[in-house]
Amino acid sequence: MPAKHWKTAGKIACSLATATVLMSQSHSQDASKQLDVTAELFDCITQMAKSASGSFFVDNILGDLEATQAAADSETGASYPPGSVVSLIPTEVMVKHNPGWNPETNDWEFIELNVSEGGSEINVRGTTAVVNQFGGNCFDCHKLARPEWDLICGSDHGCAPLPITRETILGIQNSDPRCVREDA
Ligand code: HEC
Repeated sequence: MPAKHWKTAGKIACSLATATVLMSQSHSQDASKQLDVTAELFDCITQMAKSASGSFFVDNILGDLEATQAAADSETGASYPPGSVVSLIPTEVMVKHNPGWNPETNDWEFIELNVSEGGSEINVRGTTAVVNQFGGNCFDCHKLARPEWDLICGSDHGCAPLPITRETILGIQNSDPRCVREDA
């Protein structure tokens, strides 16, 4: 191909890239609906409130734990209120932002943490593109939950089961290094 054509090809590639950026921006989160979520909000998992199913833990960073607990305890499914924090294992958390933040994920943000005796650090966070340390995309699994469950998988909400047993999950919950901190 003559140099001139390469230039044109380059220009087309460039405008495609720009278009892609613009498109992904149109799907981006609404900053005015975003809660301030920092690593300090996440601490010892077993000190959070337990869902009635007994499998996962909940909290609410806006102080409305009662509403989050009610959603988590519902036997027919519920939409979680803003501020909800949900966690099954210490390193994986879902946080609910204000209505309209990101409709595609029902306003949930998926977060992977690094946890240690020193506390929590945010490793990865976002909406549809967060991949955990095992190479799994959070949203791809969680979106399989039937609509009434608001992306919460539980043990029978329609998601494929995790490849680990209940005992293993309990073991991971009970060995959260953040729980042994003196100030925890
Ligand atoms: C391979 C599929 C898969 C991937 C990937 C995955 N999850 Fe899950 N997650 C599940 C399943 C299934 C459960 C329910 C397990 C149970 O209770 O038996 C679950 C449970 C949870 C829970 C407790 C509430 C609930 O939905 O039951 C949270 C919070 C959570 N995951 C967050 C995350 C985050 C954050 C990521 C990414 C960093 C992630 N998950 C990646 C499948 C997945």
